Amino acid sequence: MTTARDAAEISAPAKLHGEVSLPGDKSITHRAILLNAMAEGEARISQAGLGADCMRTVQCLRSLGVDIQFLSDTDLLIRSSGSQGMQEPDEVLDCGNAGTAMRLLLGLVAGLDAFSVLSGDASLRRRPMSRVTNPLRLMGAEIYGRNGGENPPIAVNGGRLEGIEFELPVASAQVKSALLIAGMIASGETTIRQPALSRNHTELMLATQGVQIDANGLTLTIKGGQRPNPIDVRVPRDVSSAAFWLTAGAIHPQADLMMPGVSINPTRAGVIDVLRRMGAQIDIIADNNGTEPTAGLRVRSSRLHATRIDGEQVPIVQDEIPILALAATQAEGRTEIRDAQELRIKESDRISTTCRELNSLGANVEELADGLIIEGPTPLNGAVVDSHDDHRLAMCLGVAGLVADGTTTVLGADSASVSYPSFWPELARLSLNSA
Ligand code: S3P
Repeated sequence: MTTARDAAEISAPAKLHGEVSLPGDKSITHRAILLNAMAEGEARISQAGLGADCMRTVQCLRSLGVDIQFLSDTDLLIRSSGSQGMQEPDEVLDCGNAGTAMRLLLGLVAGLDAFSVLSGDASLRRRPMSRVTNPLRLMGAEIYGRNGGENPPIAVNGGRLEGIEFELPVASAQVKSALLIAGMIASGETTIRQPALSRNHTELMLATQGVQIDANGLTLTIKGGQRPNPIDVRVPRDVSSAAFWLTAGAIHPQADLMMPGVSINPTRAGVIDVLRRMGAQIDIIADNNGTEPTAGLRVRSSRLHATRIDGEQVPIVQDEIPILALAATQAEGRTEIRDAQELRIKESDRISTTCRELNSLGANVEELADGLIIEGPTPLNGAVVDSHDDHRLAMCLGVAGLVADGTTTVLGADSASVSYPSFWPELARLSLNSA
């Protein structure tokens, strides 16, 4: 593999063996930084996933007056006087490509006695924010934005918030988290009803910080006026990043890859279940059973067969759908992915971009309004493909290059650094390892 400008060139290695180095979980890192910044005192975050997205959270919180020091590439020390001591930002809070940073920060700044403006890159400025701004307005925040508060830049005149009862229109962890954060500083009680389960890292972390949240099925209730305690967090390895190697290992004919310390939180690790259901040989070697459970994962070359992904499984695997679609191109039969319309409003329209780019490599993928149909197995042929500046698509196409005939060129390869800055060097190292 060689990287020229913003393109990566990949060809299939004879073998794919070794231990993979993975970043810390992006979702947990955002929360560990933000929720500790809301606490008064000191906290250490180790093994954090400090890709471009989480670095935005760091920068935005510094603009709010939080002292964040780097102890190493992966370890941080946060010193804060809590959300009550935060200052009005002088600059626009630039969330870059990070939807999680923007939505969680909206929940925080809505409750601050401050005027804040949040914006981001071209992709983030297209993404819907009214799912967060509408309930925050109901809580009492004054919010303006493009298209009536739908798109960034978003301006927030924060202040005293009142708890609300709110039914989430979609199973979104970002919206749920924004409302839990706002609800924690509001007066009164906030009740959130979810249509289905989404990742629960915010609930788990707040509980460890001593914040009381009551869960009754899909309904969450948080009392206002609570202050979280600072807690040290050792971030598990990111299962969404592991998904690229789990798929690479399953579809490459000579593969044996190990990934230690990966998050297997059941609201996140659905990709392991789906790949196993498709016939992937994945061993789960239990490791830590804490609030955020982790395990060592081993994957070996496998014969895959088609599957169906729909309904309540979708929120649990949504970030992994592009890479699962690649797995399906190498699986026997017709894979159907439905109920995944939320993919259209991610970093790119992932239904359309995944379909287009996999087909450029010779796959047989059909685009549906809410998903994809993939007929497999189809051999893949190297071609020039485009990441659409979407980190997960860039890495998916890189993995496709590991099994395609000839050379695959991924344009916009650098976007991988949003969540996995060492992805391309790692791909080169594992390919060389086994030449
Ligand atoms: C995330 C939640 C998910 C996911 C995103 C990260 C989070 O989005 O797609 O990559 O950390 O809360 P939704 O909240 O839109 O489901």
